Order: sequence, then structure tokens, then C-alpha cells
Amino acid sequence: MTSTAAHNHEAPEHLPPIFRWHEMQQRAALDPDAHWMDLAMRLAWFTAPTEALNAAGRWFDGGKLNACYNAVDRHLEMRGDQLALIWQGESPEEKRELTYRALHREVCRMANVLMRFGVKEGDRVAIHLPAIAEGVIAMLACARIGAIHMVLFGGFSAEAIADRIADADAKLIITADVGRRGPKRVPFKKTIDAALTHLPPDQIDTILVMSVTHEDVPMQEGRDHLLAPLISAAPDTLPCVTRDANDPLFLLYTSGSTGKPKGVIHGTGGYLTWASFTQNVVFDHREGDIFWCTADLGWITGHSYVAYGPLCNGGTILIYEGMPSYPDPGQWWRVIEKYRVTSFYTSPTVIRALMREGDDVPGACDLNSLRVLGSVGEPISREAWEWFYRVIGRNRCHVVDTWWQTETGGIMISPVPGIVEGEPSAATLPLPGIDAVLLGADGREIKGEGEGVLCMRRPWPGRALSIWKNDALFQKIYLAPYPGYYFTGDGARRDGNGHYWITGRVDDVINVSGHRIGSAEIEDVLADDRDIAECAAIGIPHPMKGQAVVVFIVPRDTARADMLPEHARQIVSRRIGRYAVPEHIYVVHDLPKTRSGKNVRRLLRKIASGEKDGFGDLSTLSDPECIERLLEATPM
Ligand code: WTA
Repeated sequence: MTSTAAHNHEAPEHLPPIFRWHEMQQRAALDPDAHWMDLAMRLAWFTAPTEALNAAGRWFDGGKLNACYNAVDRHLEMRGDQLALIWQGESPEEKRELTYRALHREVCRMANVLMRFGVKEGDRVAIHLPAIAEGVIAMLACARIGAIHMVLFGGFSAEAIADRIADADAKLIITADVGRRGPKRVPFKKTIDAALTHLPPDQIDTILVMSVTHEDVPMQEGRDHLLAPLISAAPDTLPCVTRDANDPLFLLYTSGSTGKPKGVIHGTGGYLTWASFTQNVVFDHREGDIFWCTADLGWITGHSYVAYGPLCNGGTILIYEGMPSYPDPGQWWRVIEKYRVTSFYTSPTVIRALMREGDDVPGACDLNSLRVLGSVGEPISREAWEWFYRVIGRNRCHVVDTWWQTETGGIMISPVPGIVEGEPSAATLPLPGIDAVLLGADGREIKGEGEGVLCMRRPWPGRALSIWKNDALFQKIYLAPYPGYYFTGDGARRDGNGHYWITGRVDDVINVSGHRIGSAEIEDVLADDRDIAECAAIGIPHPMKGQAVVVFIVPRDTARADMLPEHARQIVSRRIGRYAVPEHIYVVHDLPKTRSGKNVRRLLRKIASGEKDGFGDLSTLSDPECIERLLEATPM
């Protein structure tokens, strides 16, 4: 079914002045449903919803809309000639600019190509692309025809890609010959070919390949097609399919404390409401803004703040392909200067890396266009926050340290420019309607100042619908640990002003440069190996990456112990990706265990951090002597 819609809402609302903000907060507290309906009315609905959250736990049920219509079509009348997307490559000449009208054409063409290859509403399409405009175009093309996109991070190994394709049962892949990272060429198509060797021969029908550098990549007759000629030949119009508010918009795989990565499902109406609202208020979105979010499209930040959020608000997005300091450390600052970027959203890892290059590098660029600086994905240290504020923001930009997760769909706890000012390392306050609580060890809510497990009491529209093909797991991971609450997996402290300070994961998830890696994910792939009897993976603080992975391995045969570190690194790189490769590996005789046989990670963390004593009460260990032996091991 297709339709064209009437606008419910013209241009995105400007940031509400402070009195309206307080009004919104009050409304959210007293009449949450009315508040959520207000937010939903930001979108263009084909059929407007009549209620926010219904008894079945569904958001905006009965509402009908299309995500691509909201990101593109609705702007054609008002801002068809405004830039929607700027793409910049490493050399200044390599760039591409698309107005909303041009973006609409490109998306329709891509959508027509997908239809021609048999993609139907509800089908899953895998997108494995470098940071080029086609990434966003492909996502929107899927949304337009109601296909569910599944973007795969460029750093995943072939096996990791195969696992995700099999789980989602995707039939079509959009990829590129290569990606460009500084002087390196990253093989995309070859990685996909390698992934296919791990899949049944009839899994993938079609591979569409963007030629980025016209690299000579193997193409299989009948299955693989060059995308560019198909796009040029495709019709440049196509109506939007009508989707229900709770129809899945995309799947995104993420790691948790359970073994395999899981396919988080985001819906259409609730997700889009939350992505567009949060982008608007947290970045004080204004007409003419140039919004640069540096996240890879393969992560949730890329979905909500490279693509859907800013486009739904009629902004201009910037996509840059390449590394922060290549060919020299001034590269990204020059991009900000060149395009007069107003909002820059990046990760503490990037900030730390650029900070190391000194103040003169950004000092040489005109960064006066900047208004809001954002950070996400991992804790930001006071030092990095202050550098961001002083050297990049020139003491006049708002710095927003935004806390959220793949599962939350959008920002949850964050400063709001002009309303809630940031302070170093504090995520500050939950956004209106977000009902954050801290739970103590006894599972009870902590009132006032204190520290505990961060949970959400009331639901919010951006929350993931479920886990692909495994709703029981969704319930188990997020809703069962603390009945009546959504469990985030993070700990936090609340100060006397009610501001939240995230203290880090309370589960076994390691955060390396903002990439989530489950300890169990690493342990599972290593434990499969016949040379490894036992292993444990932990995270320790790392000055550049935030955290680094450290693995302890017990060899099956001590005679082969010497080759194990290299061997284990290869396994992790092959089965997960290079980003998960352990920084240090200890080959040991045994692991510290409780009497019931559980690894005591707390002790492993201390040992890996170089602590020699202060291990506390060891009487619960099945073999307390094992600590002495562990202390003798040297990391490799
Ligand atoms: C961590 C990224 C401290 C946290 C959007 C969370 C943060 C996980 C912050 C989600 C922050 C994210 N301060 N820690 N501002 N933002 N985290 O799913 O542990 O890739 O649970 O989503 O990153 O990572 P994910």
C-alpha cells in the first residue's frame, strides 16, 4: 500500500525557550502520554496515532508513516534546494553535495534497484559500506520500500558478518569494492566474499557493489552487480510504502554479556520520534545547521545522528570518509572550517587522539561556526572534556556529554544547551519523560544522592522493540533483572543536584574506543579452539582506547603455550574483528575461581592492571594459592 501524506507539522520546532522546557518537563511528569503524543506530532504521519503507549506495550499503535518520507520527502516543498548531505573525502576535491531534492532522487533510484532485485516489505537488507553517501541513501531506500536494513560495521570480520547475515536471514547485500582509511584500502567486497564461504550457498541472491576506487574485485556472474550503472538507469521516483508505527525499521547487532551479538530491533514511529526530538533539543538544532556526527553508520550513533535524527529535522548532514589525523592532524578541523560546521558530535577516543596532537593544530583553524560539541559512547575524562570545551569550543560552545545505548534508540541523559549546562564528565539530567532511577544492591530505588545500577522506570518511545527472533532473550536481558524496570547494564552516581555521572558497565561488557565487546563473546570464540582449555576476557583502563581487552588463557598442552598469544589474537581477529583483539594475553596455569567454579574477574582485573596486593578476602576461592602463580605470569 502506498500513499502520499499531508504534513502534520511544518518545519521542525525550534528549541523551546526555558519556560517551555520546564512546561514540557512538568507535562512529561504529570501526563506522560500527552507529552509523548506532543513529541510524536513532530513527525509527518500518514495516519496519526491516537494514543502513545497502549496496554500491549506498543507505541503510537495505529499510527502509519514512512521513515524515508520523514527524512526526505516532507522537506521537498520547504527546502528542496537546501543541502541535505555533504560528503567529503580525504582530498579536498573529493566531495559530493546533495540537496534534499537530489537526495530524494538518489534514494528513489536505489529503492527501485532494490525492488528490481526482488526486495519486498519486511525483507532484511545487509549494508556493508564505507563512509560514503550511499550508506545513508541505502538505509533510506530500504525504509522507503519497508525493507529492514541491517548495517554492518566496516571493522567486522568475515565470520562476524556471516553470523549476522545468517541470523537476520538477509538475501541481498550492498557493499563497495574498498573503503579508504588513510593510505590503506580496506577490502569490503572481499570480506563479503569471505563471509559467504561460511554461509549456505543459497543464502545470498544478490550483491550490489559500489565502485569507490574502481578496484578490480571478483564478481560472480548472476549474483554480483555493479551498483552505479543500475542506479543511473533506475527511475528517480517511487512512492513511499506505508508502515505501521511498530513495524521494524532496522536491526542492529550489538554485544552484551551473553555470548553472541544480538539483533536489536528498532521500530518506526517510536524510534523516529525519539531520534528527531533528541537531535533537536540536545544539539539545539536550528535552520541552516551543518551537523557532523563522526560515527560509523554501522553503530547506533550513525543511525540516529548521522542519518535519521538530523534529516527528520531538515538539517544538513556531513559525512567524512577517512581518519581524524590523516594526512595530518589538522584534517578534521579544516573540514569544520571549510563547511562552517555548527554541531560536531564525536567520541572521547577521537577527542583523546586529537588532543595528543597539541593545541596549535586546531588553533590554526577558524572554528567559530561551532555552537554545540557532543561526546558519546564512553566516559569522557575531565581533561578531555575541558580540552574539547576550551580548545575546540573556544570557551563559548556548549559541550553535551550524551549517555545512551543501542537499545535506547536515542540520547537519554544529557545536558541541553542553554537549559542544562554540561560539566566535565557528567551526563547531567534525563531528558523530559525519561524516568531514570538508581537501584541499590537490594533492588530498591535510591533516593537523592547515591550510587547504584542505572535503570529506567517508565518506558519511552525510542526503546528497542525486541531482539530479532528472540523476544525471550530481550525480556531476560533487559526486563527480568529488575522487575518493573529496564536495566541498562551501566552504573551511575547521582549528585546533590540530581545530576547523573555514569560510572561504567556493571556487567561483563568491555568498551574499547566506544565499541561494545562482550567478555563472553571473546571467551566463546577462544574456548572453541582445541589448544585452549579455559580462558577469561576482561577490560582494563587504557589511556587512548578507554578500555583495552586482556585475556587470560589456560593452555590444554603447556608445550604449545608459546604460540598461544599470537594464535589467540588471530582467532579473535578472524571471528570477531580487529577492534576486539586483546591488548595483552596472559598464559597461565589456572584461573581464580570461586568454589562453585565461577571465574573471579575482579581479581583478574587487578592483576592485569599491575596490582600486586590488596586482593581482599581470598577465602572464597577454591584455590587461594592460584593468585601467587598468576602474579608471576607476564603479559604478551
Ligand atoms: C557507554 C552508544 C559514559 C555505556 C550510543 C553504554 C557511555 C554503552 C556514554 C552503549 C557516556 C555511552 N558516558 N558511558 N556519555 N555513552 N556509554 O550501545 O556503557 O554502542 O551502556 O551505544 O556505551 O554503547 P552503544
